[in-house]
Amino acid sequence: MENIKAYVQQHKDRFINELIELLKIPSVSADTAYSHDVFETADAVKASLEKAGCDFVEICDTPGYPIVYGEKIIDPSLPTVLVYGHYDVQPPDPMELWTSPPFEPVIKKTEIHPEGAIFARGSCDDKGQMYMHVKALEYMVQSNTLPCNVKFMIEGEEEIGSKSLSWFVERNQEKLKNDVILISDTGMISNQQPSITTGLRGLSYVEVEVTGPNRDLHSGLYGGAVANPINVLAKMIASLHDENNHITIPGFYDNVAELSLEERAEMAKAPFNLENYKKALDLNDVYGESGYVTNERNSIRPTLDVNGIWGGYTGEGAKTVIASKAFAKISMRLVPNQDWEEITELFTKHFTSLAPAGVTVKVKPHHGGQGYVTPTNSIGYKAANMAYTETFGVPAIPVRSGGSIPIVALFEKELKSKTILMGFGLDSDAIHSPNEHFGIFNYLKGIETIPLFYKYFVELSK
Ligand code: BES
Ligand code: MN
Ligand code: MN
Repeated sequence: MENIKAYVQQHKDRFINELIELLKIPSVSADTAYSHDVFETADAVKASLEKAGCDFVEICDTPGYPIVYGEKIIDPSLPTVLVYGHYDVQPPDPMELWTSPPFEPVIKKTEIHPEGAIFARGSCDDKGQMYMHVKALEYMVQSNTLPCNVKFMIEGEEEIGSKSLSWFVERNQEKLKNDVILISDTGMISNQQPSITTGLRGLSYVEVEVTGPNRDLHSGLYGGAVANPINVLAKMIASLHDENNHITIPGFYDNVAELSLEERAEMAKAPFNLENYKKALDLNDVYGESGYVTNERNSIRPTLDVNGIWGGYTGEGAKTVIASKAFAKISMRLVPNQDWEEITELFTKHFTSLAPAGVTVKVKPHHGGQGYVTPTNSIGYKAANMAYTETFGVPAIPVRSGGSIPIVALFEKELKSKTILMGFGLDSDAIHSPNEHFGIFNYLKGIETIPLFYKYFVELSK
């Protein structure tokens, strides 16, 4: 496929400009103030699939945000690739830390992206990566090289737990029938060393509320005589890890799939430089569970983290007050075999039991999902590796990621097919953070690599 290189070179300015237009629409799914923009983005994705050459595209309404479905069926006897991606993005805040506005995309050079990167919310996660598939389809249709059938399913609620997509998948098994699911919503090691994500962590996300007195109190008049919900919450949270940074919830580790020493030795072969890792984050040291190294702590081990904590007075100056309530949002990243609903129950039971007399505690589950691991001997994995090898000049390394795409486990359960995670982002692309960006190199390389996946997948399926 020499031609794909030439096609990308010839059309790259247009490819970049089309993505920039998509990035201008602020499709923040978490905040209803952006609801109109989320719907508008679905329409834009639909139009792009029609233009790229799908024979049939529709907006599928759901109880939440719509799913854009598109297909090009060239011969029902050939294999079918189902492409999944998401057009919603994370909230942009804190706004003041962006060096350019999150929904006014600009190209800037960075140390890691000397040829430039597009700075905008969603550039890497996931509009940029999703749109690579639309442009790869355009190429295959234009050059008459599409070797099989293709279906697209692009959702608008990934960043808030994919509720409507679960609903949709359960109701549309026949329509979504496929031989392999292809997703670009993860990362790779570096622009010189591609990798294929072979695992994702599961997730349980909860919110907790600690209530003390029925109103905020003067901290002099009442301090020392009643429970302070913020003090109590801080203590309860602190007790969730022991001195080895092990999670203390009874039963939490019961089903954790432990890796063999061989598997861990294999993992250790992936290039990783601890000094660079610390430097990139301005850290004087890393931190985590005893007995595991950084690359294990953030992939094959479960974790518990507070994502936000609030209560009392946080405005200017000082106010002497004992708050009536304190709150925290807590996420647990899970590994294969841990069931997220069971973990949510274990957390709730344990956390409630920690409450001392003088306060009451409520736990509200938000959302969750199961972890995922995929073998490296499937046809899909081999095809992806052949594609990367051809465009990067070196084979891809299998890597288990710490992130979550909860819907992937559901795909396997409902649609009975394997997912291949061909990510082109870098950890330094700052997804979910201010100044998210996506390298032009990565974007174009993705468009170049995807058609090769189709080619090799069909060849290996024969
Ligand atoms: N694309 C990410 C997940 C990801 C990123 C996986 C990089 C591996 C490498 C996805 O959009 C995401 O942010 N998922 C959420 C979970 C979701 C339920 C909110 C996450 O991992 O926090
Ligand atoms: Mn994503
Ligand atoms: Mn995300």
